[in-house]
Amino acid sequence: MVILPKEVTIIEVGPRDGLQNEKAFIPTNVKKQFISALKTSGIQELELTSFVSPKWVPQMSDAADIVADCVDGKTRNIVLVPNRKGLERVYSTSCRAVAVFVGVSNSFNQKNINKATKDSLNELIPMIRELKEKHYFIRACISTAFYCPYEGKISEVDTLRLCREFVNAGVDELSIADTIGMAAPSEAYSLFSQLNREFNHVLLTAHFHDTRKMALANILASLQAGITRFDTSAGGLGGCPFAPGASGNAATEDVVYMLERMGISTGVDLTKLAAAIDIVRPHLSRSIDSGFYPLQKQTTESHE
Ligand code: HMG
Ligand code: MG
Repeated sequence: MVILPKEVTIIEVGPRDGLQNEKAFIPTNVKKQFISALKTSGIQELELTSFVSPKWVPQMSDAADIVADCVDGKTRNIVLVPNRKGLERVYSTSCRAVAVFVGVSNSFNQKNINKATKDSLNELIPMIRELKEKHYFIRACISTAFYCPYEGKISEVDTLRLCREFVNAGVDELSIADTIGMAAPSEAYSLFSQLNREFNHVLLTAHFHDTRKMALANILASLQAGITRFDTSAGGLGGCPFAPGASGNAATEDVVYMLERMGISTGVDLTKLAAAIDIVRPHLSRSIDSGFYPLQKQTTESHE
């Protein structure tokens, strides 16, 4: 019988992955309140925003303002950077945790960062070494680890090879992403088992998009492969603007609900998490169709 962990870590990616795909600009103050409420719900690690080109992703153009108010000494506040220019912008803030991102698939990387994967690597590896010398926390987000919207199935060998480059450069964490929500639980189990065997000295995190409603099954399969860290997004928001077919991430509330029901502690309070979603919901272009949140709303409204 597989022994499951007693607790897991939820890395909330809603303020970054969740909002980056929203076309209408969400007021910066709303984003700050959302982040604050997520922390109140018990979230200890989160992606706040990204220092990408405001021309490519206008929604993230207020990154410096977000960081100025939201970084605190109590939680791990991560920001994404795609290149040296993004890193220079981070250096002028108080943020101490940086995520770089790259796609295993060359075609996706080209669309997302306007560079071939190997050119991104050539730029990112020296940045990682520099960040390490400066004692930053470094996370590497590995996109299209299972499937690419342009190239189809990605081989485990290619994903593992790319991960090795980042681990050798000294990252603290690998976040392995099913960018377009196409992985089957058997594939999640297989890749995460191998990652766990080879890289058990770094933090290993699973990042599942829920396009085909397989994220919860993939999280369970990854748990069985020994993974205890999951990127999730409040309200199930999210998707990469440069990955056609990518829909939201695994909804934090559904993951927390499932894990807590299994006796696995997440440290997240579901009622407070719903209050965080309430803050951002009126500003979204889409409705929230996670399992837990609409049900919870119905129950509270029927008691009012
Ligand atoms: P580019 O156009 O090739 O960049 O974009 P460039 O170096 O030629 O510069 C063009 C202009 O952008 C210049 O400004 C630069 O200064 C500026 P101009 O002279 O024209 O006024 N620029 C920047 N400005 C601010 N911050 C920067 C920056 N870099 C250049 N960092 C670039 C290349 C990487 C910038 C662009 O492609 C980009 O911003 N891409 C980001 C795409 C993105 O945010 N994707 C979503 C995040 S990844 C994701 O969601 C996947 C993940 O969730 C895991 C998964 O699910 O797979 C992590
Ligand atoms: Mg993502």
